[in-house]
Amino acid sequence: MPITIPIRPAGAAPTPGRASAGAGLMRPGLTSLPPLSVYVHVPWCVRKCPYCDFNSHAADGEIPERAYLDALRADLEQALPQVWGRQVTSVFLGGGTPSLLSAAGLDELLAMLRAYLNLWPDAEITMEANPGTAEAGRFRDYAASGVNRLSLGIQSFDDAQLRALGRIHDAGQARRAIAMAQAAVPRVNLDLMFALPGQTLQACQADVRVALSHGTEHLSLYHLTMEPNTVFAKFPPEHLPDDDTAAAMQDEVEALAAEAGLARYEVSAYARPGARCRHNVNYWEFGDYLGIGPGAHGKLSFHDRILREARTRNPERWMAAAVARDGSHIAESRESTADELPFEFMLNVLRLKEGVPATYFAERTGVSLAAIAHQLEAATGKGLLDADPTRLKATPRGWAFLNDLQALFLN
Ligand SMILES: C[S@@+](CC[C@H](N)C(=O)[O-])C[C@H]1O[C@@H](n2cnc3c(N)ncnc32)[C@H](O)[C@@H]1O
Ligand code: SF4
Repeated sequence: MPITIPIRPAGAAPTPGRASAGAGLMRPGLTSLPPLSVYVHVPWCVRKCPYCDFNSHAADGEIPERAYLDALRADLEQALPQVWGRQVTSVFLGGGTPSLLSAAGLDELLAMLRAYLNLWPDAEITMEANPGTAEAGRFRDYAASGVNRLSLGIQSFDDAQLRALGRIHDAGQARRAIAMAQAAVPRVNLDLMFALPGQTLQACQADVRVALSHGTEHLSLYHLTMEPNTVFAKFPPEHLPDDDTAAAMQDEVEALAAEAGLARYEVSAYARPGARCRHNVNYWEFGDYLGIGPGAHGKLSFHDRILREARTRNPERWMAAAVARDGSHIAESRESTADELPFEFMLNVLRLKEGVPATYFAERTGVSLAAIAHQLEAATGKGLLDADPTRLKATPRGWAFLNDLQALFLN
């Protein structure tokens, strides 16, 4: 899942960096740029799931693929001056359900990215797919166009749970989709959710065992959350597991995954050695990303500023605005101030179990580490941050109380 940080609407003046002593920090100054990845949002699904607050909309029959691809080209062309000459290390096609794109549509999309951007020859190219839209032939075609990683939204292997979650597939389809994906591309991720209505510890273990039995190299495991403005928020499901049960599930999953050779490397991610999601790791390491498509978020660094952008969310409005080429497809655009950057940075990097080299802080925020010395001291003093000066990394206790640790870096 892409990490998003709330940003101020376009037009609102960014708070200028302050040069005063005390809490105010200097405007960021970067001596090098971090790796750049590209996120492409495909906003349609067969049906809207009752728990989901992603920018996803039930497709009314066919998706408007031609209009979407034309708008995406216009969006990308207008963004090019911001990323000119930079190498792109990964691409993530997220949604929504990108596997609703036809093979020809996806081929055109990737050809467009290659034509306009300097895409690394071995770039990781991930596509999200719903098992209910999986077809062996189409998966092979996607692979022939360059997709080398598929991420399947499995959620559970329990048919009753899948029905309660409003999914369009059953467990049999989920298993067949995994086999098709593994036959088509070298790398496959499975998304599972846990703490589902009425789910027991044993049922959660059973889901994870089935997922691992497919020889899976990467698992994403999300705690089911009740998001505002979803059907579940309005009509909450009964018998949701309590926090202690959810915590026990998490521990159990970690142990089962470890037995199968998958280490937990981020709050929600487990991988075999070498199988980490390079695209998501770039988010968590405070790398840059260009986000195109409706509602996509971006973070782009320049020598003197870090820019955050969000595209117009509504698919029809975004399509019309992108092809109008008047900038109105950008809903929000603002510079992160030097005061905000320590928290933004820690919000991401501390999610990684191993953290990041301490040098990344100054390199990627443009703010010196000395400027946050007192917060670092407080976090270390509370036993939440590892004392190793060469890394920024949560202690096991800090990881268990991650929100508290991250909040120490709020200005
Ligand atoms: C864009 S979807 C994946 C692809 C496809 N749309 C699908 O669902 O099969 C991203 C993932 O986010 C997770 N997700 C969505 N809403 C969630 C929620 N409220 N709580 C926890 N996980 C959620 C699901 O695991 C889902 O697979
Ligand atoms: S299919 Fe995926 S993106 Fe679409 S509504 Fe369901 S969880 Fe959300």
